[in-house]
Amino acid sequence: MGLGDAVDGSYRDRSVDLDVLVLGSGVAGLSTAIRLARHGSIRVGILTKGSLSQSATRWAQGGIAAVLDGAADSTDLHLADTLGAGAGLCDVDAVRVLVDEGPERVKDLMALGAVFDREEAGRLAVAREGGHSTARVLHAGGSATGAEVERALVAGVEAEVSWIREGWFAIDLLTESGECTGVVALDPEGIPQTIRARNVVLATGGAGQLFEVTTNPPGATGDGIAMALRAGVAVADMEFMQFHPTALHHPVMPRPLLSEALRGHGALLRDVQGERFVDELSPRDVVSRAMAGRMADQGVDHLWLDATGIGSFSERFGNIASSLAHLGLDPSSEWLPVAPAAHYLSGGVLTDLAGATCLPGLWAAGEAACTGVHGANRLASNSLLEGLVFGARVADAIASGARSPSPTGAMAGMLGAAPGVPCLLIGDQAPWGATSSADSRSVADSGVVLYDHMKASEVNAARRTLQAAMTAGAGVLRSRSSLDRALGVVEDLEERLCRGARRVPGMDAPVRPTPAGARGADARGADARGGDARGGDARGGDARGGDARGGGELANLLTLAKALLCSAGLREETRGAHARAEFPARSDDWHRRIVHTGPLVACVPSPDGRSWKEAG
Ligand code: SIN
Repeated sequence: MGLGDAVDGSYRDRSVDLDVLVLGSGVAGLSTAIRLARHGSIRVGILTKGSLSQSATRWAQGGIAAVLDGAADSTDLHLADTLGAGAGLCDVDAVRVLVDEGPERVKDLMALGAVFDREEAGRLAVAREGGHSTARVLHAGGSATGAEVERALVAGVEAEVSWIREGWFAIDLLTESGECTGVVALDPEGIPQTIRARNVVLATGGAGQLFEVTTNPPGATGDGIAMALRAGVAVADMEFMQFHPTALHHPVMPRPLLSEALRGHGALLRDVQGERFVDELSPRDVVSRAMAGRMADQGVDHLWLDATGIGSFSERFGNIASSLAHLGLDPSSEWLPVAPAAHYLSGGVLTDLAGATCLPGLWAAGEAACTGVHGANRLASNSLLEGLVFGARVADAIASGARSPSPTGAMAGMLGAAPGVPCLLIGDQAPWGATSSADSRSVADSGVVLYDHMKASEVNAARRTLQAAMTAGAGVLRSRSSLDRALGVVEDLEERLCRGARRVPGMDAPVRPTPAGARGADARGADARGGDARGGDARGGDARGGDARGGGELANLLTLAKALLCSAGLREETRGAHARAEFPARSDDWHRRIVHTGPLVACVPSPDGRSWKEAG
């Protein structure tokens, strides 16, 4: 049985009608929404599964890399460092946009009220981080940059955007006549509802929760990317999950991050013998791989970060100092236990330079997107920047009336347009059967799938099993056999999850007979259209008291796990954040992007190679 063959009920159509629905409340989502709202005539809404200020952005420490006026630096250098970290898979045009437009977007953020650290003379303070050839990382509160950025953006959204839904969990994209027309979401009471919007922006973040050791909050379950995969929208670079080298080795989860900026200020990595073994300012993939190798050689599960040489630690890095103090650690006198942790997904929903995906009306920005700026490995402190720059581009493109992608940025390769990175498209023919094809269908016709049959404790246990399998099989170092073992676990879990799942038809779908014992005889009755939100039908006719949201997140993680394992299995080389034990070198044959596609919206270039049409 595929994800979601089951029966009955109907979801509620509230007929909310927006111009733009932004999913997610991190830097990309909030900045997109503010810019759109400022157009005045555009009805924009934000839907988030947590509260507005709950997102991975808040946890970001290091800062925002940008070359501001007066710096002894250049955007060419920032571009070169980004391309170097990306290990040959960045889209050069996308990186050019990032470094050139970044400074203006940082100024916008300051105009919104974000306060960055300054030197005594009043100049903005900048730090150096791994992979950067010079100091160019702006920061706030020492290493609390994400919290400051999120604070300023939430204040901006509260002033500018009136349609905000917190605690709503988007389940699936609505796709009609080859366009995205909204989403179906579970409201805070667990009732599936339709929200219609002419444009949907996926700003739902990454998927660090695929792994048992991660710096990402529990909500980082890749929901937007999974929705895109189910709808057959192209998703790329899924094998490039970046592992941050210096997460504190401690049972708390998410793992407290010991920012790159510490190494930028001279902190050293030491093995069990106290020896240094890597240039601490190399890009993250290089440092994490060196650490994983050294840990394997020495038979240990962590190494050490020696930050004892950093003067005024608690003044410079107040929030890190206080989280260490809370755990009884003193960085000025003792080495800190560290190990790599899943941190950032460099891949995501494939977009052009304006954030347009291959489904008209669907856009993506931030960690959920694959714009091509990160390639095989993101440069430190380019993530908040990417959210700001491409969030603004999405807003401007929507405001200009655009709907479909152009052959630019990471999309160029899909069209075969020079000089894009070539793409290997895998859909129905995926060798591991790991793409969306089995799940791709129009929600408007076939409804959504609810996984509300498992208790929260069962969902959590299944999530932990998945995380352990992914950590063992698809962590910093991978092999064919380790990936195969992880895939076996993922398929078992998927079967268990699907066994009790049920399909809730869309409002336009034919009414199916309600099974005996289920509540609500006519799922499309008046009640389901907007009467009593607590009625039996509103919950899909047969609410089973399970953890529907947790089950949905688990389904999304499983979808992403399969895509990641499939891509990692195909890529027979070591490049950026993807390291294969049997193929330790980079291979020119793999200078290509692995793109998952599905049958609903297959994009093929028109004869002139300049536009798109839908097939299938
Ligand atoms: C860090 O401060 O090390 C994390 C910042 C980032 O992920 O770029």
